[in-house]
Amino acid sequence: MPSALIKGASVDLAGKVAIVTGGGRGLGFAYAQALAGAGAAVVVNDVDGDAAKAAAASIVASGGLAIPHVAPVGDADVADGLVGTAVDEFGRLDVMVANAGILRDRVLWKMTDEDFDDVVRVHLRGTFTCARAAAIRFREQGDGGRLILAGSPAGQRGNFGQTNYAACKAGITAMARTWALELAKSGVTVNCIVPTAATEMTRTIPAFAPYVEALEQRGQPLPAWLRKGEAFGTPGDVAGLVVFLASDAAAGVTGQTIGLGGDRLALWSYPSEVATAYTDGGWDADAIAAVYPMSVGREPQTYGIPAPAAPVAS
Ligand SMILES: NC(=O)c1ccc[n+]([C@@H]2O[C@H](COP(=O)([O-])OP(=O)(O)OC[C@H]3O[C@@H](n4cnc5c(N)ncnc54)[C@H](O)[C@@H]3O)[C@@H](O)[C@H]2O)c1
Repeated sequence: MPSALIKGASVDLAGKVAIVTGGGRGLGFAYAQALAGAGAAVVVNDVDGDAAKAAAASIVASGGLAIPHVAPVGDADVADGLVGTAVDEFGRLDVMVANAGILRDRVLWKMTDEDFDDVVRVHLRGTFTCARAAAIRFREQGDGGRLILAGSPAGQRGNFGQTNYAACKAGITAMARTWALELAKSGVTVNCIVPTAATEMTRTIPAFAPYVEALEQRGQPLPAWLRKGEAFGTPGDVAGLVVFLASDAAAGVTGQTIGLGGDRLALWSYPSEVATAYTDGGWDADAIAAVYPMSVGREPQTYGIPAPAAPVAS
């Protein structure tokens, strides 16, 4: 495989067929390149036809196997058509990377029904319909498969202005855990990744923007406080996680939410009870009020993504 396609991939995916939704640019394109670089045939889906076609063409030009698929993920007919395309063109399906995404950020009191529904349609419904179509195909084939879903720090923690997006991403993590249970017997692993990288979606975050600009315009590497401290790097930095999860090396990894950005690989915890209190016969409001501050409410959980903290120049 030509070196242009190989991003840290010694894993062999030859003979495997992968779909990447939203693969025309950003993280999805990096995933598609890396999967192809490891030997997989890739269906590059995107709602942006020019982007999907250019992405697939560039993979082919580098010696990989790829075809574009232009359609908006969300509804079942698109998901079914996408899986059908993989099977018609490459004979089977092994990996579904449900990556496509949009933002419609507004604070709660300004968010419209349309803002909410648009994000739900692409992220939550799109992940559901694509995963379902892939799961049906995996079960028909009878030899396992991989579902790789896209979460976000916003879904893990909540984020200002992202009612719709945070809800979808939290839902996607919950779906990954649910499907890991349901598909275990079929040998299908299901994991949620939490990527962080400079893309169209994130390049304008004020704390990151000057560094992204310096990287893109002058090739200046992102500083360590970003790559390690904020887990913020390039889309290519995240692609190795997708290739790993697609590979035989990750056959035993399922139901996990795994973060990668810049130099930081991380495992996210699952929500669990961190404090409990008991009373005989149950709790009424007065009983809760009497003990709450000193019992389960003593150490409140944090919420929200901590603001980036650039080191102070000395
Ligand atoms: N960039 C980050 O730091 C970051 C952080 C957390 C999560 N994510 C998630 O990673 C995924 C990729 O994000 P990105 O930063 O590369 O974004 P991006 O905006 O650069 O790319 C998203 C791609 O999805 C495509 N797309 C949008 N709606 C679509 C639809 N209905 N059907 C098919 N394609 C569609 C877009 O055309 C675009 O090519 C998203 O799910 C995003 O929420 C990204």
